[in-house]
Amino acid sequence: MKEDKKKVFIKNFGCQMNVRDSEVICGLLKNEGYEFTEEANTADIVLFNTCSVRQHAEDKVWSEIGRIAKSRKRGESPSGRVPDKKIIGVIGCMAQNYKESIFERAANVDFVVGPSDIQKIPAIINTLLETEKKGGESPKQGESPRFSNERKIWETDGGIRPEEIYHTGFYEDKEHAYVVISEGCSNFCSYCVVPYVRGELHNRNYKDILKEIEEAADAGITKITLLGQNVNAYSSQVNFIELLKLINDIKGLKEFSFITSHPKDTSSDLFKAMADSEKLKKYLHLPVQSGSDRILKLMNRGYTRNFYLDLVKNYRTIVKSAVLTTDIIVGFPSEKEEDFQDSYDLVKEIQFNAAFIFKYSPRPNTQAANSGDDVAREEKERRHGLILELQKKISKNKK
Ligand code: 5AD
Ligand code: SF4
Repeated sequence: MKEDKKKVFIKNFGCQMNVRDSEVICGLLKNEGYEFTEEANTADIVLFNTCSVRQHAEDKVWSEIGRIAKSRKRGESPSGRVPDKKIIGVIGCMAQNYKESIFERAANVDFVVGPSDIQKIPAIINTLLETEKKGGESPKQGESPRFSNERKIWETDGGIRPEEIYHTGFYEDKEHAYVVISEGCSNFCSYCVVPYVRGELHNRNYKDILKEIEEAADAGITKITLLGQNVNAYSSQVNFIELLKLINDIKGLKEFSFITSHPKDTSSDLFKAMADSEKLKKYLHLPVQSGSDRILKLMNRGYTRNFYLDLVKNYRTIVKSAVLTTDIIVGFPSEKEEDFQDSYDLVKEIQFNAAFIFKYSPRPNTQAANSGDDVAREEKERRHGLILELQKKISKNKK
């Protein structure tokens, strides 16, 4: 590989966790001598780091894969690969969600790697390039030459990521870095695919996290965002609040924040720590998901509307100039007008700085997917539009 530097294009979909994962993969591949390009057309290797959180996110990826595949010239080479053929990899949450069945829907994809196997990507690409050099495998009897000549590789076993992958020293930005503190999630909210694609919660050791931040600070990073699906559930030898205090003391670090928090694991102690840690941004993303107690229960969220309202009150009392944002899902199975109204009224009452509103989308394996999807699309759109409009006005007034 070292003789001619292969160019990699990586397209990211989804959340900040994916942004960081793409960065980790870049770091690993750079260390192996690969170059990166902003242009898919001229790349030798195209990676799609995918998201499964809603159907819409997946649809975008499928159409992008189709577009890239179409842009390849048709033709035969000794290996059965088209001469200008790129290696295409689907990685991330959709990879885990669909595993090797991705090859059935997108025959041009060469490899599939789930979020817990990203450390294997350099070796997989190497194997595919080596196979290409050797002219590929010979077709087996009865198999279509095009498909059998291509080697398909998939790694979706999961497991715990090796700690080294977080220490490549590569960050996209010169000043700001995302730092993963925990992977996966064990909350099993009834609508959410995350525990199925990213596995159950695994906390990184706090010493490793501190080491990564110190290394980053030594390299000039001054701002950090701590990442986890549910950061406040963090616990290794220290809990989340203790971790925040340790990070606050790191020399060279000027500012840090964290996403995402779960209301059931959020307390006044956290708010006090936020108020006391001068480097910690006074910003909290606290997804409420619904204002209806009945729906919150069906969502398996583990708190009530009043619990959430109390949290917000405490947050705003304890943390001065506190910024608050949220996520809300409309059209969850069986959501009636009065449930929706509860969400609408909650948004009005709390006056979030920003709210991200989503239309419910059934996800494979999740508990809610068994309850059907009984709120009509038009109705979801109406409810979505109404809260969006309300929040727009609130956000404008807050500026
Ligand atoms: N349908 C709609 N929105 C969802 N979210 C997560 N799963 C779904 C789903 N199945 C939203 C939640 C979460 C945000 C990242 O995406 O609001 O907080
Ligand atoms: Fe999408 Fe969730 Fe995966 Fe992030 S963790 S990429 S939001 S499915």
